[in-house]
Amino acid sequence: MQDKTYDMLSRAARSAVENAYSVYSRFSVGAAVLMDNGEIIRGSNQENVASPSGLCAERVALFYACSAYPGVRVRAIAIAARDASGRWVPDLTPCGACRQVMAEIIHRYHSDFDVILPGPRDELTIIPASTLLPAPFSV
Ligand code: THU
Repeated sequence: MQDKTYDMLSRAARSAVENAYSVYSRFSVGAAVLMDNGEIIRGSNQENVASPSGLCAERVALFYACSAYPGVRVRAIAIAARDASGRWVPDLTPCGACRQVMAEIIHRYHSDFDVILPGPRDELTIIPASTLLPAPFSV
């Protein structure tokens, strides 16, 4: 059951890549978040000429998911990317800022979730989000 769901989530992440606004880096990323209510929220990186103002695909998707469904737990996030030459980038792991946002979501919902990374032959690496950022900042 989980395998099929995660395959579907990976395909959703790949489809989200096509909506990236990555005119500066030409590196297009898509993310798809599976919520506890079955909703799938897609996001893609959105860049800006003033580069820090842009946002990674993972945070676009996670922030939208949490603002649309504030009481609903995040179950999983799949991530996919294409490089400047259009090739799929396998096993793309999230940046540090996205890991800190994931840590906040684990804290907020008292619930870990899976990070799903499609590999070169469509095999899926599944990583608990809680392992991605040891000792996250917290107050
Ligand atoms: N990016 C993401 O969207 N997610 C990642 O995990 C890594 C990087 C974006 C940020 C920027 O728009 C582009 O990829 C190049 O770094």
